[in-house]
Amino acid sequence: MAARWYQEAVFYELYVRAFRDSSGDGNGDFLGAIEKLDHIKSLGVDCIWIMPHYASPLKDDGYDIADYTAVHPNYGTLEDFKAFVDAAHERGLRVVTDLVMNHISDQHPWFQAARQNKNSPYRDYFVWSNTGTEYADTRIIFLDDETSNWTYDEVAGQYFWHRFYSSQPDLNYDNPAVIAEIFAVIRFWMDLGIDGFRADAVPYLIEREGTNCENLPETHEILKQVRRFMDENYPDAVLIAEANQWPHDLLPYFGDGDEFHVCFHFPIMPRLYQALKAGDKTPIIDILNDTPPIPPGTNWMTFLRNHDELTLEMVAPEVRQWMWEQYAPEPRMRQNLGIRRRLAALLDNDKRKWFCLNAMFLSLPGTPIIYYGDEIGMGDNIWLPDRHGCRTPMQWNDTKNAGFSTAVKTYYPVIDDELFGYQQVNVAAQENNPDSYLNLTRFLLKTRQHQSALRHGAFEFVDVGNDAKKNKAILIFTRKSEEQAILCVFNLTDQVQPLPTGVSPKAFDLLKQTIINNQLAPFAAHWFILE
Ligand code: NOJ
Repeated sequence: MAARWYQEAVFYELYVRAFRDSSGDGNGDFLGAIEKLDHIKSLGVDCIWIMPHYASPLKDDGYDIADYTAVHPNYGTLEDFKAFVDAAHERGLRVVTDLVMNHISDQHPWFQAARQNKNSPYRDYFVWSNTGTEYADTRIIFLDDETSNWTYDEVAGQYFWHRFYSSQPDLNYDNPAVIAEIFAVIRFWMDLGIDGFRADAVPYLIEREGTNCENLPETHEILKQVRRFMDENYPDAVLIAEANQWPHDLLPYFGDGDEFHVCFHFPIMPRLYQALKAGDKTPIIDILNDTPPIPPGTNWMTFLRNHDELTLEMVAPEVRQWMWEQYAPEPRMRQNLGIRRRLAALLDNDKRKWFCLNAMFLSLPGTPIIYYGDEIGMGDNIWLPDRHGCRTPMQWNDTKNAGFSTAVKTYYPVIDDELFGYQQVNVAAQENNPDSYLNLTRFLLKTRQHQSALRHGAFEFVDVGNDAKKNKAILIFTRKSEEQAILCVFNLTDQVQPLPTGVSPKAFDLLKQTIINNQLAPFAAHWFILE
């Protein structure tokens, strides 16, 4: 079976608000993003996921939708959105948007109608309680801010259910009218020409007493209905699941190839950082051995960072504690069960670590996605609230506001600290330097995309020689397609390591790294073509 487009693509996560402000109001917008599409294209990516761009009070940065079919006025108009999609398509880039179906904003007219009138048809669009005591086995996700999944609404005279902020009431998926509404939303955006959705928070659609209200069979039934709707109407589109769960709980989100095309692989992500810090490949091997095979026509989505905190929900409590100590020594670097820092900052702005981790992640099985700004090694601002410290304006050049905006005040300030400030870290400064983060990103992505084995080849861990078997610091695996085989070798430490037996120092390395004295350099990464 030939690979489907999303199985071979590289994705780019775009935060429109942060990218380029064409109107001068301090917020990025679609017309600005159009100006910067050539930058995205130049990286060698194939598809853009845009974070929520809908009308919203922005209490959860757009994951609180007040109107599903309107563009947030800060970001432009529906015409601007359409122009963006067309301009992306002209460059051979696909576009997927965020489908936030679990909850809406309390400002949405459905909730306003529901709370004001018990007899309104919208009342049953939400989940109500007289006591706020039901579903007590359900965890709280936004632990830093919420103490309950129920909030009492004075106007309604009842409690309503919410898995995220109390300003985000959950929709009631036991009500078929809600599903019909979501189909209309899907149709609206698909008919504007987009290529699919990243579906937000999908494990939480249905609640049942006596369960933890996650991953329920009834939830999967709803998601299968969504997939059927997509297949019938938009068979080339992709549906991507955001389900922060263990591999065995993730597998059902693929169904028998009849639910999601792609699921984020949440558990592998923190383990890549863990392995690099500990100089020990074991966590990577364990989680991949624990990852079940997936149906034909589907894929994992792999990532190093995104717009949220680096979540540590999918590691054991003692590992979480260790990761916090290692990667988030200051309390403000921690958030909920995670770490609110950017990639380059997590890696001490050490290009060797950055290259090693990226080369590792880009050679694992899965569809990779990179987060805007990480292609130039942008830093973060831990003094901003919530997750905004990793959502600051894109740094284009060393002029005012990093070339992002001409406004006096931008939605959040541009990073201007000594190490990561826009004066040093920006696209223009990196453009002509072959060793810059920017050009290394381009090199890695393009090299990967030229190799069928890396795009879709079979994956196998290898022990090359006794040294490598004993040596936890060296991670080795092969990727094999019908045409070729590639041996991927990584040194997870800052010490030189012996070159594994069987690896010729003369082997052709797609990553063009030099090997001196038959030794792997600190944080070495190699993609050797096997004869
Ligand atoms: C997951 C999103 O990635 C996150 O940013 C958001 O806050 C929650 N879902 C709630 O929508």
